[in-house]
Amino acid sequence: MIGQKIHYYKRMQSTQDVAVTMAESDPCVLNGTVVLAEKQDNGRGMQNRKWISPPGGLWLSIILKPNLHPTKGALINFITALAMCEAIEIKTCLKCMVKWPNDIIINRRKVCGIIMDTAIKGDSIYYSVVGIGVNVNVDIKTIVQALGGESKTSAPITSLKSELSGRSVNRRGLLKIFFERINCYFNSIGHENEIVGVLSRISHRLEGMGKTIISDQTNSHAIGQLIGICSEGSLLVRRSDGLISKIPSQLTYLQ
Ligand code: BTN
Repeated sequence: MIGQKIHYYKRMQSTQDVAVTMAESDPCVLNGTVVLAEKQDNGRGMQNRKWISPPGGLWLSIILKPNLHPTKGALINFITALAMCEAIEIKTCLKCMVKWPNDIIINRRKVCGIIMDTAIKGDSIYYSVVGIGVNVNVDIKTIVQALGGESKTSAPITSLKSELSGRSVNRRGLLKIFFERINCYFNSIGHENEIVGVLSRISHRLEGMGKTIISDQTNSHAIGQLIGICSEGSLLVRRSDGLISKIPSQLTYLQ
């Protein structure tokens, strides 16, 4: 069960690196083990970006031994994003959307990032370490300064506290709801009809649903209209001829 065993640190380099080392070095590590830090000195984001992690945020990594075929690995990402969106909404009433594949946004600003490190053995996932960073009660100016300014390539950032006009959010309470939601969704893996339910829930939160997907920034070639995601993590797009195509989400962006 996720959250049953939590390794808590006041300060560390990166919960993600520590959790990956645990998963690599201990074949008996408990499924659902969490590494949580109050502050990270070397937080890791996607595309080798730094993840600035001052005190006040939620910085954690979860070790999963999901016994899943590698093609189903994207489900872990869906479920994590969905569980965190729901936890934030329950706790704050702020509407969360998913900017596929790994960002949670509120009012078009990024509040949470998700990263996954996966090892495959044979034809199944040996472990997945899913890292989640949520800007809960952090000062956005401090993060932007540490990054040397707002990123030009990714969404502008926010925190729950800024979205709530300075009101702090109880992180322990948020984490508790997140663990409840994520455990509930993980239990549904294996039941095909419940996975369909998860996909539909995440599709409803997908930023850009119904909008036109274009192939890349330079030639702006329209592919079609975004209608959802499939269980392998690709975006589903309805083309102008009515056919439905699967588009690897990393290669696309929204008009
Ligand atoms: C992204 O680039 O959007 C993903 C960011 C993931 C950050 C989290 S914070 C906890 C965990 N430890 C890390 O070093 N990174 C992830």
